[in-house]
Amino acid sequence: MCGIVGYVGPRQASDVLIGGLARLEYRGYDSAGVAIIGENGLDIVRRVGKLVNLTGAVAETPVPGTIGIGHTRWATHGRPSEENAHPHADCTGRVAVVHNGIIENYVELREELAATGHMLRSETDTETIAHLIESYYDGDLVAAVSSAIKRLDGSYALAVMHLDHPGMMVAARKDSPLIIGIGEGENVVASDIPAVLEYTREVLILNDDQIATVSGDAVRVTTLDGHEVGAPEMLHVEWDLEAAEKGGFEDFMLKEIFEQPKAIRETLRGRMCEGEIQLSELDMAPEQVARIGRVYIIACGTSFHAGMISKTIIEQWARVPVEVEVSSEFRYSDPIIDDDTLVVAITQSGETADTLAGVREARDRGAKVIAITNVVGSRVTRESDGVIYTHAGPEIGVAATKTFTAQIAALYVLALKLAQAKGALPQERIEHLWSELSRMPEIVETILEDIDGLKECGARYVGASSSLFLGRGIGVPVAMEGALKLKEISYIHAEAYPAGEMKHGPIALITEGMPIVVVATQGHTYEKVVSNIQEVRARGAQVIAVATHGDDEIHRHAEHILYVPATAESLSAIPATIPLQLLSYYIAKARGCNVDQPRNLAKSVTVE
Ligand code: F6R
Repeated sequence: MCGIVGYVGPRQASDVLIGGLARLEYRGYDSAGVAIIGENGLDIVRRVGKLVNLTGAVAETPVPGTIGIGHTRWATHGRPSEENAHPHADCTGRVAVVHNGIIENYVELREELAATGHMLRSETDTETIAHLIESYYDGDLVAAVSSAIKRLDGSYALAVMHLDHPGMMVAARKDSPLIIGIGEGENVVASDIPAVLEYTREVLILNDDQIATVSGDAVRVTTLDGHEVGAPEMLHVEWDLEAAEKGGFEDFMLKEIFEQPKAIRETLRGRMCEGEIQLSELDMAPEQVARIGRVYIIACGTSFHAGMISKTIIEQWARVPVEVEVSSEFRYSDPIIDDDTLVVAITQSGETADTLAGVREARDRGAKVIAITNVVGSRVTRESDGVIYTHAGPEIGVAATKTFTAQIAALYVLALKLAQAKGALPQERIEHLWSELSRMPEIVETILEDIDGLKECGARYVGASSSLFLGRGIGVPVAMEGALKLKEISYIHAEAYPAGEMKHGPIALITEGMPIVVVATQGHTYEKVVSNIQEVRARGAQVIAVATHGDDEIHRHAEHILYVPATAESLSAIPATIPLQLLSYYIAKARGCNVDQPRNLAKSVTVE
């Protein structure tokens, strides 16, 4: 959570910082600030709310200088306010710090600092870092930062400046992302790649417990004890800035919904060769794959729903029992793991703290961990035994869309691989399922070609205050994802239930006119779903059904039908998801919501 940018070079730092923060705003937008060293000393400007407030303040009173640090905040310690906004300074106003992460022992540090006369002005954990640096500083900023961070428990990505060193900044990290874009005569420190792409594609990935000393023409990386790191990890970024911009769509979310055919196609590319499912990332001999006796899936939010979908599929196709746990629970659940357990960590960002903690727990218990992620070089890729990448491209909208369907595509491949290794499905069936799966990009394209009905349907429910989402089988996690999308971007209360469970309680919630979205695509429980629809309609609900093309019968049971092309029941999760994403999108737009940056949310949740 929170976005950091630091710049040193010949340009006006404020331009680079504000441009970079705009690309990181998905990480949090409770407040924003910059600190710049110029001729008049160290200036700090901070504003509550979105970046636009800071941009306005800097436009009104420019802050000249060619070195600076900036921050966009997702509040953890201390409410969103100007005092709690970053950058934070020490007592002397000569040190400035931006931070992403959580300092767990900050209460103890605050007390210690206050007892030795430091004046802390905010409620944040971050401010303690500025004062610690002040207390250790004797002219050597790197040494002071190093001493300070040795006192910290928790996670941090930091950028630090000191007025005594107007040509350099110090960056460090532990368990929070930080990269350095290496330019020509300029360098840009940032939480994520989009913030540096305007200046360079050469990126240095700072690792845990490393400190970088960054000036305009050099970056020196050392350990906390001052030993030079010989060959810091470098990455050449292939995708360009345009890929991370809106490309003519009104919002990133809509653009990303429309990018799903490509994301799925890219994720499936090269996964079948001469009848064999290709998944070398597992890095396991065929007999080892065949021995997998249990799969644990850990993930959060939308990624958790992808995990739930894959439970049905892996169990059906490969006949391996699958447990799906939200990562924050897995870690404390004393999971039953043995040598034959495969743990799959699903995380689009690769930086979700709960999932990373789950990965560590699983590996400590001896499990083999495979990550499914969208971000090359992200934290999870370093902490897992193998990585399956979804090739969805950068996702900027806070609500996950294209990365969700790409995750499902990757999980279908994993399920087929397990089924093939275990001999659980005949070869013809595997090849048939693969060819159906390969049609998925075109199926999604067909849905996206005709969205007028969805727009109208969305406009109709703009005034709803509560809704239910129902499904059976694979339709349950699809309904859960539909409900999550609606609540997070439109702020309409939405709950998802297995359709058969309605009558055991939630049916009491139904009032006249309440919208109920039902996943009613063709499958072995279709008739039961129709009965459940009748139960809710009898109580006054307005039913919006996701149904299969050619199902004319459904017109008798629902007010609105969102048709999707026919496919195998086990593959229906992807097509059924698309209308639910668009429905939420159009309802949220009609309500005037900011779909790309919903309130209280952040794109990557790097705190537990
Ligand atoms: C919802 C959403 C979140 C994320 C969750 C996990 O639209 O985006 O629920 O799915 O925070 O994030 P990752 O997949 O990055 O671990």
